[in-house]
Amino acid sequence: MRPTVFYSYIVFLIVLSSCAFKTPDPSVQDKMHIFLDSLINEMTVEEKAGQLTLYTSGWTITGPQLREDYIDELKAGRAGNLFNAHTVDYSMKLQKMAVEETRLGIPLLFGLDVIHGYKTTFPIPLAEASTWDMDIIEKTARLSAKEAASAGVNWTFNPMVDIARDPRWGRIAEGAGEDTYLGSLIGAAKVRGHQGEDLADPTTILACVKHFAAYGAAQAGRDYHTVDMSDRVLRETYLPPYKAALDAGAATLMTSFNELDGVPASGSYYLMTEILRKEWGFDGFVVTDYTSINEMVPHGVVADEKEAVALAFNAGVEMDMQGGIYSKYIPELIREGKISEKVLDAYVKRVLTMKYKLGLFDDPYRYLNAQREQETFFSQELMDHALLSAKESIVLLKNEKVGDSPLLPLSKSTRSIALIGPLADNQKDMLGTWHVAGDETKVITLLQGMKEIAPGVTLHHARGAGFTGDDRPGFREAIQAARKSDVVVMALGENFGQSGEAASRSELGLPGAQQALLEEIQALGKPIVVLVMAGRPLTLEWMHDHVPAIVNTWHLGTQAGRAIAQVLFGDHNPAGKLTITFPRNVGQIPIFYSMKNTGRPFDTQNKYTSRYLDVSNEPLYPFGHGLSYTTFDYADLHLATNELSEGASLPVSVTVTNTGPYEGREIVQLYITDKVGSVTRPVKELKGFKKINLKPGESAKVEFTITTDDLAFYTRDMSYQAEPGTFKVMVGPSSSKGLEAEFELKVNGI
Ligand code: GLC
Repeated sequence: MRPTVFYSYIVFLIVLSSCAFKTPDPSVQDKMHIFLDSLINEMTVEEKAGQLTLYTSGWTITGPQLREDYIDELKAGRAGNLFNAHTVDYSMKLQKMAVEETRLGIPLLFGLDVIHGYKTTFPIPLAEASTWDMDIIEKTARLSAKEAASAGVNWTFNPMVDIARDPRWGRIAEGAGEDTYLGSLIGAAKVRGHQGEDLADPTTILACVKHFAAYGAAQAGRDYHTVDMSDRVLRETYLPPYKAALDAGAATLMTSFNELDGVPASGSYYLMTEILRKEWGFDGFVVTDYTSINEMVPHGVVADEKEAVALAFNAGVEMDMQGGIYSKYIPELIREGKISEKVLDAYVKRVLTMKYKLGLFDDPYRYLNAQREQETFFSQELMDHALLSAKESIVLLKNEKVGDSPLLPLSKSTRSIALIGPLADNQKDMLGTWHVAGDETKVITLLQGMKEIAPGVTLHHARGAGFTGDDRPGFREAIQAARKSDVVVMALGENFGQSGEAASRSELGLPGAQQALLEEIQALGKPIVVLVMAGRPLTLEWMHDHVPAIVNTWHLGTQAGRAIAQVLFGDHNPAGKLTITFPRNVGQIPIFYSMKNTGRPFDTQNKYTSRYLDVSNEPLYPFGHGLSYTTFDYADLHLATNELSEGASLPVSVTVTNTGPYEGREIVQLYITDKVGSVTRPVKELKGFKKINLKPGESAKVEFTITTDDLAFYTRDMSYQAEPGTFKVMVGPSSSKGLEAEFELKVNGI
């Protein structure tokens, strides 16, 4: 930092602290405001616009364009924030430029997409959501933040909380699935994990809730496509997870690429000010997604980029990611009176407040400690948790008998196993989408995991097929491996690039020639286990009809192979449950458990009812589905009363018994049906769950409490409240089955 500026800081701080003797010591908050207001008072309009500018470094490309001049802009004070720049060595160079070579020496924010890990990679978010375990999820976010912070990152563009019900959309991999209630809990857990108790702690990083709003409802599942829905659906289904994450204290929020009701989110006053600021009281700052201000020109709501800046700025957007047009046009628009410098100062203060809270003005290099970086990467704590999270993310979809017992778990004394498929001995694709700094060389593959856990088994490995095209030369080797083995394990699915951003698919079967490979291997008549490794639900109907055991293992990260092997051989009893519906075919999409009943619900006896001629209405695997190596029995559903008065609460209990041979965990789910409303209501909605562990023969009484808040919704006049009437409670192992009972809600005595 130039001596003049640094000196003035010190002098200012001395003056500030000395005044403490003359007047009562201002609160920390007051000190911050005094400091920031005085700093902003020093800044030129260009420097203010610079603090609202975010550029990517050249290290990782996460969008369509790159500015080569980001360092020049940084040194000129026209770029106060960077992303995709990390490691102590690289970030130190950049931070020194900002602090020592610019006029005011304001430290940089360093952002990165730490979505499911930094170096140590955890299961993709859609996988980890299948744990239904907020402690696991929060700890993953905590450890990811710790590892990323050790490499100079102080801001992550996470959690992504977009509700999604269309598996054609590749970014379904990044979220928590289809359910608003569960997605809200998961988003809040990730914010707590990333931000910890105090942002001044250098192992914590700013969270960024994204993508606001309703990005997951892209038409036809095509990324960046139009979103259009009623305000009721927006507020009831899509907004609550953003709100929950912000209520958990998220420091920042990111706009989405899509339009909503005809207005691109980055220019939507309704979203960015009416809802975010006036209704929700959000006091952090809003950053756009990658060049999404510029993209309002092709959206067709502005004629040029200057108009786009005015629209976004006046809508309530503080920071321009990668567009470079806030720094270009804000000074001009201020001079022309089209935007207000008072508002500009308020925006700049929101950004500087986060830098202040991170402690960057006290010590701009506090995240830049090379020794800490090396000590943190892949620490045992990280690797242990990555293994636990991976194991708990695995969903057993099917496990039928072969002979006298279910095919899984496999015996470690099995003589020989054929391990076939492009994901069987694969490091890179285990990392999944958005593995930004993940290190594939550290990944344990399935082949390695199986050798480690069952060294006595002879393994015959064959890749068999790839991920694209119809190449079949590998079939022969795969068939030979299967022929000489007692059991076949197939690792099939998507590579990491076939889900995630800009990776929508119109067909959801096994990519490439994998389905053909599966059918040829299945025709040999050997017992087959298929491990489905993908970033989204795939259409598995043929597989379900022809294969006795199917395990959905997603992309599980660094410890993938070890986790899967421990489940395969029974060292770990799977407990994951789906948070996204698996359709039978693409034609059923959108399909999700909380749909409406319609006026002509399907009736096998009546042609004129809501159905298809060529497929059932039912999904292949419903939301909440997941099996165990043991079995659980549900009994004695009990409601403390059958009449609930508004404001009161209703205790509900059920007895769950482990009736099988293995200790295991069960995710007990509670759903509510509002049988009559002033508007149509979903056939059921998740309103509670408990994850319990039971030994063979053990029983547990699982208790829930229903409140009238659980029953509230946007009524006919859009007021948010519960209405009197009859409600059904269902408690069970998935959204498709359970014990049922009813109760009446009384409001104002009726
Ligand atoms: C991408 C993504 C967003 C990400 C950002 C920065 O386009 O949409 O989720 O955080 O750019 O990489």
